[in-house]
Parts: sequence; C-alpha cells; structure tokens
Amino acid sequence: MKTYDLIQPGFCYTQGMANYVKEPFRIKMVEPLMATTREERERYLKEAHYNLFALRSEWVSIDLLTDSGTGAMSSAQWAAMMQGDESYAGAAGYYKLEEAVQDIFNYQYMQPVHQGRAAEKVLFPIFLKPGMVSLSNMHFDTTRGHVTLAGAEAVDLVCEEARMTGTYAPFKGNMDLERLKDYLAKAAAKVGVIIMTLTNNSAGGQPVSLANLKAVSEIAKEYKIPLVIDAARFAENAYFIKQREPEYKDASIKKIVRACFQLADCFTMSAKKDAIVNMGGLIGIREDRELFEKVKINTVPMEGFITYGGLAGRDLEALAIGLYEGIDPNFLHYRIAQVEYLGEGLKEIGIPIQYPCGGHAIFVDARELLPHIPYYEFPAQALALELYLESGIRSCDVGSYMLDLDPETGEQLEAEMEFTRLCLPRRVYTQAHLDEIIRAFAKIKEKAEQIKGYKIIEQAPVLRHFTAKLEPIK
Ligand code: F0G
Repeated sequence: MKTYDLIQPGFCYTQGMANYVKEPFRIKMVEPLMATTREERERYLKEAHYNLFALRSEWVSIDLLTDSGTGAMSSAQWAAMMQGDESYAGAAGYYKLEEAVQDIFNYQYMQPVHQGRAAEKVLFPIFLKPGMVSLSNMHFDTTRGHVTLAGAEAVDLVCEEARMTGTYAPFKGNMDLERLKDYLAKAAAKVGVIIMTLTNNSAGGQPVSLANLKAVSEIAKEYKIPLVIDAARFAENAYFIKQREPEYKDASIKKIVRACFQLADCFTMSAKKDAIVNMGGLIGIREDRELFEKVKINTVPMEGFITYGGLAGRDLEALAIGLYEGIDPNFLHYRIAQVEYLGEGLKEIGIPIQYPCGGHAIFVDARELLPHIPYYEFPAQALALELYLESGIRSCDVGSYMLDLDPETGEQLEAEMEFTRLCLPRRVYTQAHLDEIIRAFAKIKEKAEQIKGYKIIEQAPVLRHFTAKLEPIK
C-alpha cells in the first residue's frame, strides 16, 4: 500500500505530534472551490508561463500562495465596514485606528497606508540615501526592493540555526548578534537603519525572541541607528515568545507586544497578515515627532491625505478591529496549532520542512527534497509547480527564483535557503483541506527524482518572480 492511500480525505493526524485545535469560530459565509483535471492544469500552467502568480484563482483548489490579504474577516469587522466614514479628511475610522495603535503598541503616532510596501516606500527614503546599507535579520522581498529603490544595499544577518532546517531551535528568526557587531565595527557609518522582521518570513515564519530584540535594540542605540520593526506578523511572534521564552509564559500577548515594540523607534506593518484585513498597512512611530512630520510629508503625495493614507474609510474601521482580533489568545492558539498540524503531517510522511513549524506557513526544504535540481534551475519553484500539477494546490517559491539577479554582476544569486512556502490564510481552511495537502505531498515524494528544473525566459529587474516567464528544462 502506498503512503498516500492511507491519507484519504478525512484521515486524521491526531495520533501524531500535533493536535488540531478546533476553530474558535463558526462559518457564516462560504465560497465554492473549483475542481480541475490534470490536463486542464497542464494547459493553465503553460498559458501562465509556469508562473503561479499568473494563474486565475478559479483554477486553484486550495490557495496557499500567501497569507496576505486572504484572511476571512469577522462579522464584527464586516459590520464596522458599513459604518465607514468616507470623509476625505478627519474620518472617524482614523481616530479609532489611532486609539488602537496607541493602546496595543503604546506608540504615540501612526500613519495608515494602503499596504506594507507603501509603508516601506514612505519611510525608507527618510533613513536611506544612495550608498547606504540596511541591516536586517532578513529583508522580505518587497522590503529588499524598497531598500534597493532608495539606492541602498540590503544585508541579511540571520542566525546560523535558520539554515539547519531539520534541527529544532526555538527562535530561528533571530539576528546573528556577532555578525551584526562585526558589520557595525567595520562600517557603522554606512548603516542607515536596522530592520527586525517579526516573524522572520523568509527564514520560514520563524520567531524572534525578546532577548534577541533587546540585544539588537541596545546595539542600535549604541550606534545611534534607528531600529524599525517589520511588524507584519507581530502577534504570531508574540505568541511564540509566550510559548518559548520562559520569562514571558504568564504575560498576556498584549503585554509581550508592548514589550517588543518599546525596543524600537518605529514600525512598518502590512496589516494584511496578523491584523486580518484584505487591504491595509501602517507606520507606527514611538515618540519621534520630527520623524512623524517627515512621514506625513511623504504620505500625502504617495498615498493620499494623512487621515486615509490610501485606504477607504471602511478599511480603517475593519483594521482597528482586526488588530485586536489578531492578538486574541484563543485565535492565536488555534492558528499556530493549525500550521503545526500541517507541518507535523508532512514531517510524518518524510517531507523535509523548516522545523519547528513557522507561524503563518510551512516551508518545505526543496534543496533537500529535490537535490538533483541546481539552484539556478529553481528547485523550490519546480516543487511549487509540481504541487499545482498534482493537486491544484497553489504555493510559492521563497528561494533563488524569488531573489532578483545581482544588481552589480547580473548573475543569478543562490538563496541561503530554498523553500516552497505553504501559507495558511487566517480563518479560511479546515482540517480536511490540510489532509488533502499532506496527501498531495505523499504522491509527490514518490516521484521526486523525476521532477525537472525550470529556466527563466523573461524577467523584470526588481521583484521579478511576480511577472517572470519560465520554461521547463527538457
Ligand atoms: N514585510 C513582510 C515580512 C511581508 O511578509 C510582506 C508581505 C511585506 C513586508 C509587504 O507587505 O504585501 O502588504 O505590501 N508579504 C506577503 C507574503 C506578500 O506573501 O509573504 P504588503
């Protein structure tokens, strides 16, 4: 009997390591999922030039492309949407949002923007000029893109443990403090900003400890370099701190969030993740009034007037509520356990993953699953394409394909880690969906050696993976 025969839909992994925690909500509105045949999927992929971003969502069965903007809003959020004040200036939602940011983060100032990368676009040119450097535990791709667009260089200094995907470490998202100190000792004058990404998306949705954040904050203060938190998944990070850093096991999520954010000068946030809205972003500033003035000056021409910042009034209302729903401990308990259930299931059938499981996604180690495909033939993208062909499930590459060509040499860079990322949208899929994903991987594992690499035939200079065209290597 093949492994996947055992994993019929409905097969339950509760005898394994992970328990599925029941949804702390019931479902009021549903969307149908379409079924496709393998022949259809082959045709769709060809039409999409083997770029999963170019697929129509109706051709996808379970969509694990991203957890960004794909969460299900609550009845409270939808109700608030109806009350949205659409005034150009001074809308009620702006003040509700300001109150929520002050309460949760203990930050004095905030600026709404339309999404995370807009926050980066507004903020980074204030800190970074051509020739300067941004240091981070890891820059996400848009973050790296905006550092580059400001004329600066993005340097990742993630800890060593992040690369050992099969080995447990509680905080694989951490900054490597020794490398940070070395870099600053040699070239502090060039460093315009330090960015801590919580959780560390590109390293596998891995958390950063409060101890690490504290140490980075002290170093940043010593060199008088501003510390920015990339706060997309701030609540999941706080939950991991509560679980894994003994000092904080009795602290509330909100208290941990405040403790983290007091260590930084400001934050950029894609609110499409932990704040569970379909569109929205934020810049938060702890106390620097002068910085806030500069942010406002940039926001008006780039995003719109300061009290709406590229969002509709109703979006501001939903976001003010979503920030609280995202830090609800019952929700976080279910959320993190759901991701873990998927990860443990995959591990049980021998799929190599970044371990322990991340907060928002499972990252499959494609270098290990497909060792016969070299990085310049994009193993993580090849695996994502195979998963779609096999099952209609959409995922994405977080590896060499996602990295743009070296801006100086024009050469293909090799990613530190080669992942196929399976993101779980918030409050969207159930246990049976997760079992179907595990089943698809069991089939893929059996024919892993036959999976072939891809080459790029067309690409943009920045953030190429969204629009590149590929071809299978014969
Ligand atoms: N920072 C991090 C850590 C992110 O994961 C993202 C987006 C952004 C910034 C940019 O935010 O999309 O609202 O402009 N990540 C999504 C993802 C796209 O799929 O991981 P955005």
